[in-house]
Amino acid sequence: MQIEIQNKTVAEVEADIEIVCVIEKETSHPWVEEERSLLELAGFKGEQDEICLLAEKRRLYVGAESLHHDDIRSAFAAAIRRLRSTDAKTAKCGLYLGKCSAQNVKAMAEGMVFGDYEYDAYKSEKAPHPIKKVTICNEDFKGKSIDFEKAQSYIAAAVTTAQATNYTRNLVNTPPDDMTPDMLALKASALAEENGLECVILDEKGLEAENMGAFLAVSRASDHPPRLIHLTYRPKKPKYKIALVGKGLTYDSGGLSLKPAEYMVTMKADKSGACAVLGILKAVSELKLPVEVHGIIGATENMIGGNAYKPDDVLKAKNGKTIEVRNTDAEGRLVLADCLCYAQEKVAPDYLLDFATLTGACVVALGEYTTGIMGHDRALKHSFSKAASNAGELTGTLQFNRYLKKLIKSDIADVCNISSSRYGGAITAALFLDHFIEEEYKQRWLHLDIAGPAYVEKPWGYNPAGASGAGVRMTVKWFEQIVKESERDKA
Ligand code: BES
Ligand code: ZN
Ligand code: ZN
Repeated sequence: MQIEIQNKTVAEVEADIEIVCVIEKETSHPWVEEERSLLELAGFKGEQDEICLLAEKRRLYVGAESLHHDDIRSAFAAAIRRLRSTDAKTAKCGLYLGKCSAQNVKAMAEGMVFGDYEYDAYKSEKAPHPIKKVTICNEDFKGKSIDFEKAQSYIAAAVTTAQATNYTRNLVNTPPDDMTPDMLALKASALAEENGLECVILDEKGLEAENMGAFLAVSRASDHPPRLIHLTYRPKKPKYKIALVGKGLTYDSGGLSLKPAEYMVTMKADKSGACAVLGILKAVSELKLPVEVHGIIGATENMIGGNAYKPDDVLKAKNGKTIEVRNTDAEGRLVLADCLCYAQEKVAPDYLLDFATLTGACVVALGEYTTGIMGHDRALKHSFSKAASNAGELTGTLQFNRYLKKLIKSDIADVCNISSSRYGGAITAALFLDHFIEEEYKQRWLHLDIAGPAYVEKPWGYNPAGASGAGVRMTVKWFEQIVKESERDKA
């Protein structure tokens, strides 16, 4: 599906169908007034994402609660989704500019790309995508105006970011036997090849050479060997150097602390952090953002077997710290511990972010749709959550405290991989990771627990059932934000 903008009014453009967005149930607007009685007859109220297709009039109406960018994103996704069950090949619409014009134009384009997404790789009958072209016309419903060239670049950027999000969704949705650690590494090297990234992949021997005793223990009982993936996007004059670490559990059975059957389903999505990192690298390299980005992924399975690591084992991580294992299902933090050490040692980044479907406790704390943000620096957490909200992703910050910190003390080793309390699990997991963050990186580190939003089994808003690509849009937005801020500081 191609999305373009033309310097014409809606009436001047030819298309099979026109999309009209009804904002705040406002049916007195001229674009809507013509068909008000028909809309009333059809029972159309203009609720968020409500659709009314007047086929004879060649118009599709969709409701949006407000001009907020996320309402617009959602409405356009709903409109395109509905058009997929029609024969319309081309569509047109006007502009719905809000407080920030750039944000709303981007939201329209993103919504359209999301509305056209469906994961059908394993269906014999493929999903229809009849709409080939959508023309956004340079005519705002409230008469506002936008610079045409700028609007063109906003649309291109939004399509790139949304497609990178869909790329992440596809990787996460892929079943575990077809997305093994080795396969994920192949996908990463294909991305590197296509987008001109550097790519280093370590196998078991490489992990041994790096003294990654925690990561290796988790991977031991799997028939699919682990991989550490390190991709680098190196632009000419970067403003920042950033390391992104991703949890890439291509399957989490729980290991010997085996998950109950109903909790094991969906654990193919335990690689979502890794896949988000790949999506972010795809987007930043295509957008040519002036930030050097390192993606470091720990890819492995957590399985059972005669050689499985066990509760009671003591492991030694890359930084020399010893870890008492009391639950093999708290495996993500073990893999991340070694990958975080690797990132600090090899990259020496300005900022260090990790993405992980780390804890069920984070889902209990914030609900299914919200990413948990944790870290030591208030300003950094605030800066990131602002970017997330501007990108249309939900976040909530969870605070560290000294009492929770004590709960992961071990009698036998430097730290224990689970808390002694059943409460506060998202934070105690982050406090475990904190043991692997060197003093000089404490204020530059953010931990993002995406266990909730990365994979939801029912559709929500413009997100389909399954993988959402959580983490991609917010991080790209944060990069844009810190680059802009650094330019402003210079001026
Ligand atoms: N991958 C899971 C966390 C998870 C749960 C992600 C639900 C997405 C949805 C993680 O490895 C895990 O099993 N964590 C345990 C930790 C516990 C043993 C301390 C959990 O959350 O129950
Ligand atoms: Zn687990
Ligand atoms: Zn896990």
